[in-house]
Amino acid sequence: MLSAPIPQQMREKIDDFAADFSSGALAEAAERLSLAYRSGTPPRIDTPLARAAYLATRMPATYGALWAAARELPFEPTTWLDLGAGPGTAAWVAPCPATLVETNPTWIDLTPATRIHADLTRLPPLDPHDVVSISYALNELGPKERDRAVLDAWSLARRALLLVEPGTVEGFAHIRAARTQLLALGAHIQAPCPHPGICPMAGGDWCHFAVRVERSKLHRRLKGGDLSYEDEKFSYLLALKEETTPPWARILRHPNTRSGLIELRICTPEGARPDKVRKNDPRWKAARKANWGSPWEPAQ
Ligand SMILES: C[S@@+](CC[C@H](N)C(=O)[O-])C[C@H]1O[C@@H](n2cnc3c(N)ncnc32)[C@H](O)[C@@H]1O
Repeated sequence: MLSAPIPQQMREKIDDFAADFSSGALAEAAERLSLAYRSGTPPRIDTPLARAAYLATRMPATYGALWAAARELPFEPTTWLDLGAGPGTAAWVAPCPATLVETNPTWIDLTPATRIHADLTRLPPLDPHDVVSISYALNELGPKERDRAVLDAWSLARRALLLVEPGTVEGFAHIRAARTQLLALGAHIQAPCPHPGICPMAGGDWCHFAVRVERSKLHRRLKGGDLSYEDEKFSYLLALKEETTPPWARILRHPNTRSGLIELRICTPEGARPDKVRKNDPRWKAARKANWGSPWEPAQ
C-alpha cells in the first residue's frame, strides 16, 4: 500500500500544539470529533482543544489522502489555492506557495501560507491558481452549495481542480456528482477515472482508495490500538483544463496475490471488471509492484 511521508516538522508542530492539553482531555475531544463525523454532522472545531484533537487525530490522515491524490498531477504547479483549508493541510502538500480559504477564523496556521477568511460558497474575487483543491470540505456543505463550490473552484483553476473526500459511500457520491458536473463543463479527468464515460460504480460499490499513514505516539495515546499505522480511505478526482491521456485502467482494490496468480479488479473504458495476471504474462512484474489505485495496462 502507498505510504504517505508525513513531514517531521508537521508532526512536531502538532505535538507542540497538543502539549497544552492533557491526554485525557484530548482523547475525549478526539472522541467527540469521531462521533460527529460518524453521525454525518461536521463537528464544530472552534476551541483550542478541539483544534488540537483534530490536528493530532485527523490532520496526518487528511494530509496523506491529499498527498496521494496530488501525486497524479501531471505538472508542477507554481500557485495553489485550497478552499475549506482548516489547519492548512494543503500547504504541506503543495510544492509551491499556497493560498488558504477558510470560514473558521480560529484555525491556526502550522505552515506559512496566505490566509483568506471567507466562505467558500461566497468567494471574494480571487486570482486563478494553477491548482485549486477542496479536501474533506465538500461533505460539510449542502447539495446546492456543493455544486456552487465545484463550479467556482473550477473557474478559479488555471490548470487543475483536485477534490478529495472521505472514502465513504457519501464521500464518493460527492465526487461522482462533481465528476458529472465537471465533464459537462468540458473538464478532462486525469485521475482516478481512466475514461470520461459513465462511472461503473453502482449497487453498493464505491470508488475509493487508501493510503497508509504512520501513527505518532500522540495518535496512539489518543486513539488506542497497537498498530503503528492507520489506513486512510479516500475518494478523489483530478480534473484538468488541458487535454490528457489517462491510463488505460485503474486498479480498484488491493491486488490479490496467490502463488503464480495476481487477481486485480480494474476500471476500464468498458466498465469495472477482474483481470488475472499469471507468471508468464509480460505484466507480471508490474502487477507485483502494483497497488490499489495504481494505473494499469492492457494485456498485449
Ligand atoms: C474536515 S476539515 C478539512 C480541513 C482540510 N481541508 C484538511 O483536509 O485537513 C473541513 C474544513 O472546511 C471548512 N469549511 C466548511 N464549510 C466551509 C465554507 N462554507 N467555507 C469555507 N470553509 C468551510 C471547515 O471550517 C473546516 O475547517
